[in-house]
Amino acid sequence: MPTEILDTTLPSMRRAADILRAGGLVAFPTETVYGLGADARDSQSLHRIFSAKQRPLKNPLILHVANIQAAERLVKFNDFTRQAAAAFWPGPLTLLLPLRLDSGISHMVAAGQDRVGIRIPDHDIALRLLNSFGHPIAAPSANRSNHISPTQADHVVHDLDGRIDAVIEGGNCRCGLESTILMPCEEGIMVLRQGVISESEIAQKLGISPTIMPAAAELQTPGQHCVHYAPNAPLRTDARKVSSDEVWIGFGPDQPNATLNLSLTGDLDEAAARLYATLRQADQLVRSSDHFAIACAPIPTWGIGKAINDRLIRAAGRRRS
Ligand code: TXA
Ligand code: MG
Repeated sequence: MPTEILDTTLPSMRRAADILRAGGLVAFPTETVYGLGADARDSQSLHRIFSAKQRPLKNPLILHVANIQAAERLVKFNDFTRQAAAAFWPGPLTLLLPLRLDSGISHMVAAGQDRVGIRIPDHDIALRLLNSFGHPIAAPSANRSNHISPTQADHVVHDLDGRIDAVIEGGNCRCGLESTILMPCEEGIMVLRQGVISESEIAQKLGISPTIMPAAAELQTPGQHCVHYAPNAPLRTDARKVSSDEVWIGFGPDQPNATLNLSLTGDLDEAAARLYATLRQADQLVRSSDHFAIACAPIPTWGIGKAINDRLIRAAGRRRS
């Protein structure tokens, strides 16, 4: 059966919630990327997420809730994590916190980890869906495992048509990169995945500078040990020169001849928002022309530029050094 495309009217949102209640899968927009949602209490529904995405079962899922009271019923906060939630929620910060014994959440969400990822998305449609469903929704990004995350409903359909019940058409995701994943630990706070919220913003709002998880430790972390966010064509990053058989992704006003450009004005937020759609477009161009690879211009490494570079490095199949 083809995937149903839902609009954002009240009957469609009710339909989406009914699909979740019946154990189905609904992709929905968030401010970061589209998520593939299922009832977080129901192992059978969660199983369907893993098989639709072809995702390894040991890769844990992120819980999405509508408000802090719902979060408090599922995970244990302390003063610091409550402060972090107050500073960044609703928004693109995932906190890794201990699951409460009485949470009612399926063991498949944490996939054997001793903490679970949780966030409140800052997106009207996501919040309406959560409120209409009335329970926590587990949702990874709505792409095939290891492919580029979706920032438009079309991307979801491209990757998962016929494998999921419905997708809510909610336009382009505002941020375009995944949430920052933060883990409080004895030594301080660690960023497991760089994302929309930069380390400097975290330090500024919480008064502690986070450490980035060392590349070597990533090998021990579920979901971080394989190539991610990858287009099909080979990708070259930091490309100052391109050859005629490469699709050129530029950045800023100095590359008027680039095939595509992440931001003509050199705006990093715009580049983040357009990154995944541009990589998909470049991939499409390689498939339909005599180009054989993608070359992306250097992207500055401040603010959200760090997360953009992180994704480009992974998309190129390399590890951070
Ligand atoms: O912005 C986002 O975070 C999006 C939207 C839909 O909310 N979600 C998302 O989910 O990117 P996903 O599953 O594609 O990426 C989550 C990453 C995975 O690499 C997973 O391994 C890691 O977070 N993760 C989730 N829960 C974890 C846990 N309990 N312990 C360690 N890593 C965890
Ligand atoms: Mg993902």
